[in-house]
Amino acid sequence: LDNGLMRTPPMGWLAWERFRCDIDCDNDPQNCINEVLFRDMADRLAEDGWRELGYVYVNIDDCWSSKTRDAKGRLQPDPKRQVLKFPGGIAKLARYVHDRGLKLGIYGDMGTYTCAGYPGTTLDTIETDAQTFAEWGIDMLKLDGCFSNSSVQEQGYPLMSKALNATDRPIGYSCSWPCYQGGLPPKVNYTILGEICNLWRNYGDIEDSWDSVLSIVDWFTDHQDIIQPAAGPGHWNDPDMLIIGDYGLSMDQSRSQMALWAIMAAPLFMSSDLRTINSGARAILQNKAAIAINQDPLGIQGRRLIKEKSGIDVFWRPLSNQASALVFFSRRTDMPYRYHTSLKALNYTKGTYMVYDVFSQKVQPMLKDTTDFVVSINPTGVVMWYVFPAAGWQAEAES
Ligand code: DGJ
Repeated sequence: LDNGLMRTPPMGWLAWERFRCDIDCDNDPQNCINEVLFRDMADRLAEDGWRELGYVYVNIDDCWSSKTRDAKGRLQPDPKRQVLKFPGGIAKLARYVHDRGLKLGIYGDMGTYTCAGYPGTTLDTIETDAQTFAEWGIDMLKLDGCFSNSSVQEQGYPLMSKALNATDRPIGYSCSWPCYQGGLPPKVNYTILGEICNLWRNYGDIEDSWDSVLSIVDWFTDHQDIIQPAAGPGHWNDPDMLIIGDYGLSMDQSRSQMALWAIMAAPLFMSSDLRTINSGARAILQNKAAIAINQDPLGIQGRRLIKEKSGIDVFWRPLSNQASALVFFSRRTDMPYRYHTSLKALNYTKGTYMVYDVFSQKVQPMLKDTTDFVVSINPTGVVMWYVFPAAGWQAEAES
């Protein structure tokens, strides 16, 4: 979507995977969906070094609203629980978030109800809802597609894009539409999606497990010929949230999710408890080189170059200034595997290269494209490299 927003994949925090639809603030105040949760996350993003790295969105998901619209037909936070949940309304929360140099995202559903049964946006409330969000100071909308059908979605998603554009507020637009159409052509038209949405969910929901991450990676790579060309500045494929820092992934698997999301030019929305996240997970999520690769201004989504050679996949992403990123990803479950290859075998032809290992944070010895090398990759883990032609490096250093 050419609205000037999200020229690189959006980054921030999204409530759903970690906090779901917990509205029991009386008994579970630390985990429930209320204003405090979003204020806390805004504080953490602003104070713990996230914001400076680009993690600026604080995004509300399902279960924030009342079960009924207000007298004027507008969505509203639960009036009964409002005192507990969103005492000052969403506008006050937006001010709190903006005061910390962050942006606020909200969630809606193009259908009768949200997936959790809260009021959805029907064709006749699209404009009201867009207007309400803009008045509150919302910066991004995720529009889900439960309790809907293909005709409503086909009309509704483009209409909401227009309605958001008609407000005088820049609002990033995340569409779950393709996810509800199976993610593939002919049902999904990626050209239209790129014109009306800034990002879109192609595939099912991530859960807190390695199996879930793997199934997403498999789907995205198996269909890369279709979806990779659809991505670019202002319009991104979204393989769903980062679950790093939750309960399901080992450290190696956490590095794998970070590396593969970076290679895929995926939106980086963390869904973890930033109040209690451990330092290992934090270091992975705050890895500057991985983030720089994800945020590369060319915005070209990476691809799997080599499929399962000895249980190792190799992914590649072209970056600006002739640089590129490589990910050696192990699907093995036995022991660290010593993978033999050369840059030439991975289509590199420019002579000598500088190599920076993203997770060990070490510059490697200069590497000639014809030289065989070995990388040792942990089971379910990755080795990620930032690769730069030495000639280009010298030219840049001299200029
Ligand atoms: C389905 C979406 O795909 C999830 O990310 C989440 O928003 C839930 N619905 C909320 O009900």
